[in-house]
Formats: sequence, C-alpha cells, structure tokens
Amino acid sequence: MKKAVVIGSLNLDYSLAVAHLPLPGETILAQGLTMNPGGKGANQAYALGKLGCETSMIGSVGTDNAGALLCGNLESVGVDTSGIKRLPDVPSGQAFIPVDASGQNSIIVLSGANALVTPRDIDREKARIEQADCVVMQLEIPIETVLYAAKLAKSLGKTVVLDPAPARSDLPDELIGCADFIKPNETELAILTGRPSETIEDCREAAELLLQKGTGTVMVSLGSKGVLAVSRKGTVHIPARKVKAVDTTAAGDCFTAAFVRAYEGDTEKALQFATAAAAIAVSRKGAQASIPTAEEVK
Ligand code: RIB
Repeated sequence: MKKAVVIGSLNLDYSLAVAHLPLPGETILAQGLTMNPGGKGANQAYALGKLGCETSMIGSVGTDNAGALLCGNLESVGVDTSGIKRLPDVPSGQAFIPVDASGQNSIIVLSGANALVTPRDIDREKARIEQADCVVMQLEIPIETVLYAAKLAKSLGKTVVLDPAPARSDLPDELIGCADFIKPNETELAILTGRPSETIEDCREAAELLLQKGTGTVMVSLGSKGVLAVSRKGTVHIPARKVKAVDTTAAGDCFTAAFVRAYEGDTEKALQFATAAAAIAVSRKGAQASIPTAEEVK
C-alpha cells in the first residue's frame, strides 16, 4: 500500500542478553544491556518508512530524552511524527526485554505516555486517516482509543490492519469485525479465541472464529513454521525461511509492516515479502535496529 498511518505505542527498549529467560522466583545475571528504539506501533511505523511506504504515526511520548530519541529514529526513515503528542511530566513508554541465547524473549512494558492516547487525539488527527490507504494498530494504547480509531477508519473506507498484541481474551467483537487483516501469533490466537493453537489445523479452526466475527483475513504467525492465512477464500500456508535466530524482538512488527507495504490485492505475494522481511529481522539484534530495507528483502 502507498500511504499508511500507524496508531500505537512508542517504547525505549532495554534489552538484556541472558543465557535463559528467568523462571518465576529465579534471579539470573545478564551478560549485557542495550537500549534501542522500540514499541510495537513505532516498530511498525519505522519498518513501513524504511521499506519505502509514506507513513505517519499517531501516538504519545514524554518530553524526556527517550521521547526525542524515539521520534528522531522514526524521522530518520521519513516517518511523519507530527501526529505524536509530546506530554510534559509523563515518561515515555519503556520495555524491559531479556533475550536468551536462542533469540527468544519476554517483554514487560511500562506504558507511560502510551496510556494517554485518547479518542480526542484520533479526532484531532482525522485528516491523516482520511488521506491514508491503510490504518495499522496494535494494543499497547488504551483499547477504547483503538476501537474508536478502527471504527473511524472503517467508516472512511480505509484498510484496517490489527496486530492484537499484547493479547487479551476480552477483545471487543466490534474491533475484530473492523479488521480487514488481523495478525496474531499462535499464543495470541489461543488467548483471543479460547481455542487450542498447537497444530496448523487448530490454528485454522481458531482463525475461523475470528472470520465469523467479521475479520477479512487472519494471518497467524507461526515462528519457525511460517504463517497461515485464513480467509473466506481459503487457507494458505507460507513456510518460514531458514535462518539462525539471534533476537526475535519486533519480527512480528516487521512482518505486519512488510505485509502492508507489499499488499496490492495479492495476499500470498505480500505474505512472501513479509516472511522474508521477518526472517531478516530475527537474524539481527534489537527492535527497529533489526529491520531491513526493501532491497535486502527482495
Ligand atoms: O514487538 C516488540 C516490541 O514490543 C518491543 O519493541 C517492545 O517495546 C514492545 O512494545
């Protein structure tokens, strides 16, 4: 797609290199700490910008150094950040991410300014949505704002893409029904639907439940098993590229953005592009730092 608006979160990521993820009650030592621009919304906006899509972002940061860094990184790939509110006396969002030796992670987000994105902000930035082809959202800002924005975008005839993370079991049916594309991973799909997602057949059956609520296409990211796309036209399974995973942070965000960038009506072609982009992202460290250019993906 040509023009996108991302509505969502911006976080400063504190990534800790660890031998294994801590068990409940366990204390472990980290081998290193890096600070990187992240946040599911900002990662998607950054990836869209870097992949060559005209992109703007609606969100909220503090007037702290982190807020300036997060906006600056988006601007470095051409993302219009004038829809991002800068709030005094509120810290920018932060995320604490241990990454183990196999590249797996756990993420704890301290929302900060992300919790203050309101429906009024969406109204203020309505012209941005009117001018876009596609609106991309996740769930790290208040759910009422996501729902408000999704309904507005839908009423304006825009393509709505929802990354339902962090997953919640009480996602409003109305929001699911607004999504032309929804991209849960298997764990998120199980939380969203209350159904098992261990096998590809489980995922297909669970995805059908989202179709019944009005979603156009469910794209279930399956990590090393690739992606399963389920729509009323049928089911497509795209296997993953074989890569050595170094850090899976933001691979899903990169996938969603690359799909949006490549989608011109052919879902399978866009999924191939997105799968390749995500494969590169997992082979590099960090969130936005791991995102490739369109040339690298091709
Ligand atoms: O999807 C990865 C992102 O989740 C991280 O960058 C972190 O900030 C959290 O939002």
